[in-house]
Amino acid sequence: MQTKTLIWDLPVRAFHWTLATSFAGAWLLADGERLRNIHVMFGYTVLGLVLFRLVWGFIGTRYAQFRSFMYRPREMAAYLRGLLRGQHPHYVGHNPAGSFAIWAILILAALTGLSGYATYNEFGGDALEELHELFANTWMLVVGLHVGGVIVSSLLDRENLARAMVTGYKRAEPAAAIRSGVYGLGSLLLVSVLGFWVWTLVAA
Ligand code: HEM
Repeated sequence: MQTKTLIWDLPVRAFHWTLATSFAGAWLLADGERLRNIHVMFGYTVLGLVLFRLVWGFIGTRYAQFRSFMYRPREMAAYLRGLLRGQHPHYVGHNPAGSFAIWAILILAALTGLSGYATYNEFGGDALEELHELFANTWMLVVGLHVGGVIVSSLLDRENLARAMVTGYKRAEPAAAIRSGVYGLGSLLLVSVLGFWVWTLVAA
């Protein structure tokens, strides 16, 4: 029987919402010189978060592990074809289509952050600045697809997946639950990111 089951540990949830905030903040403050240091603050946060996620993808809980969402392109294609035929198999962790968006987001986050760092420190000239913009725009496109996919999946599954990314709980068999929410590490991640933001804003 399916019940309210803990699926996303706190580090994944803290990572998700601080990444989403950093992305939105950096995007909104991309133009102009006045708040450049806040744009850069969000950029550094993105790089730190991606590094954290890289490690957590190997040692994290069941659905945080990269191997739990490593699907082949043909699995994604089969999943999307099934959707068109009205089939919608339920996945407790990430589904094959969602997983592709997540890999793209992680890679684009790293590329945007690194090219931004190089541009800020004047390593690469105008060409690198153009590349930084291209990565950021592509990232925005993928985030749009990601949010669209989350809405469609939520409607088809009749489950609010955004809320699950806040609470950590989804509808599933009790045996699917992760053993721990890893609250200590998740809180440490949250406090570190918020502390870095407050420290930068106070110094600004
Ligand atoms: C209102 C906006 C957003 C909502 C409602 C949302 C919701 C979600 C949900 C429900 C999941 C889990 C997907 C699943 O069940 O397979 C997820 C995963 C993810 N989302 Fe979002 N998202 C939002 C914005 C963003 C943004 C702006 C980014 C990046 C800049 C992002 C990056 C990710 C990543 C990387 C994951 C994978 C989490 C992990 O396993 O570490 N999301 N999101």
